[in-house]
Amino acid sequence: MTTAPKAVLIVDLGTQYAQLIARRVREASVYCEIAPPSRALEVAARLDLAGVILSGGPASVYAADAPRVPAKLLELGVPVLGICYGMQWMCQTLGGHVQAADKREFGRTSLVIGRAEALFTGIEGRTVVWMSHGDQVERLPAGFEVYASSDTCPFAAAGDARRGFFGVQFHPEVTHSLRGFEMLQNFLVEVCKLAGDWKPASIVEREVEKIRAIVGNDGEVVLGLSGGVDSSVAALLIHRAIGSRLHSIFVDNGLLRKNERDVVEATFKQHYHLDLTVVDATDRFLTSLRGVTDPEQKRKLIGRDFVDVFKKEALRFQRAHFLGQGTLYPDVIESVAVHGGNTAVIKSHHNVGGLPKDLNMGLVEPLRELFKDEVRAIGRYLGLDERIVNRQPFPGPGLAVRILGEVTAERCALLREADHIVTSEIEAAGKHTELWQYFAVLLPVKSVGVMGDARTYESCCAIRVVSSTDGMTADWALLDHELLSRISNRIINEVRGFNRVVLDISSKPPATIEWE
Ligand code: XMP
Repeated sequence: MTTAPKAVLIVDLGTQYAQLIARRVREASVYCEIAPPSRALEVAARLDLAGVILSGGPASVYAADAPRVPAKLLELGVPVLGICYGMQWMCQTLGGHVQAADKREFGRTSLVIGRAEALFTGIEGRTVVWMSHGDQVERLPAGFEVYASSDTCPFAAAGDARRGFFGVQFHPEVTHSLRGFEMLQNFLVEVCKLAGDWKPASIVEREVEKIRAIVGNDGEVVLGLSGGVDSSVAALLIHRAIGSRLHSIFVDNGLLRKNERDVVEATFKQHYHLDLTVVDATDRFLTSLRGVTDPEQKRKLIGRDFVDVFKKEALRFQRAHFLGQGTLYPDVIESVAVHGGNTAVIKSHHNVGGLPKDLNMGLVEPLRELFKDEVRAIGRYLGLDERIVNRQPFPGPGLAVRILGEVTAERCALLREADHIVTSEIEAAGKHTELWQYFAVLLPVKSVGVMGDARTYESCCAIRVVSSTDGMTADWALLDHELLSRISNRIINEVRGFNRVVLDISSKPPATIEWE
């Protein structure tokens, strides 16, 4: 039986960087969880706690609406690192004083390290860090010493090594803080004495045991396999735990990219020997979509059909009382709405939201504690094909949201060929590793062209290539002229039905990555 991993609790005090801090901690091979202040003590009690990180946040510690952090966090007997607001709160709570700084400090700042110890072990002299604060600590609590300073911030880093309490006014989690990762690593290794053993092998072992404990000796699981990295890795973990008691279902909705179904079948049926049912539901989806041009309507119909088809298949496995899902950690983190803003529903992402309740099944979610990078690392560890490990995100409604106007079998076939040219050329040129997504879009316009001596009147294909770190914001990416012209020539010469190719040069926001 594996024991729970030693863990760090990250208390989100309203920062935009909570997940970034968590990813850095995980990169240092340490398990961590994020909790809002209201649940911090409860989560701390559940973990095998080795340290706490208090994040930054937009409030002032002396403001009435400042997040209420439980002071008991400082009495748990584990080291605490406060970042920006976290440092200010800790210092104030321990008897120091915080006030508005004479000069606000934003952006790159030169940090002078006075003591190359604890957080700064191995980091001497000066380094560049990222600051973003209006308040700062003006008087340190008893027992605290200065570790580093900047021109306008005398206590840019301070701490009490005896208690393991440290505070930094800057943000070590962002890459602009050149040696920030080393500082976080030092906190974990030097201060919290963590071994850094949260690695694919131990994660797999732990998840497999957990799955077995949930499912029992004869329980069965059904899982919707999409061929994306999340459901694929979830399937491999569950399969490793319970073998043929996992039944995976792949729904071909007719809206997939070229070769997609073949890769999934070859990988999971032939290579991993999963019990995989491939349902060809193309006709059903295309019939529902006939005459539909409204983007939200398309998404709704596809979501509904998916649930119906999946449910029918899942119910065939009468002994299966569990549903496997590739839910990731970012989907389950409670976010802290310090600004109280509304998050508008921009697009109704359907995914498999309606499934669990409907089916009345228990859930098996082996990726619930993992970030995407960790899921990829586990996929590789389990020998998963790189084409799946590195697969670019593909929306649930598939090509339907890249076909503007009506979705028909012919228009799907047209887009599928052009998209294959875009993806294969970009991959052959080795450019895909820098990109978040790269695909073709079928526009609902026809335009005049000339081929040979004849006039043509055909469709227009847009190329969408973006870089992004999480899909929330994105920049359009420029490919070199030669690659773009090869893609354009091939589409027009090889795909009957297109006579024009255009490049989408819009960023998100205000555009979105998908066109619908
Ligand atoms: P947008 O178009 O909103 O897309 O900028 C952001 C990211 O989400 C993906 N996307 C989806 N993923 N189901 C999904 O699983 C969906 O319905 C869906 N719609 C968009 C999109 O590909 C991009 O990566």
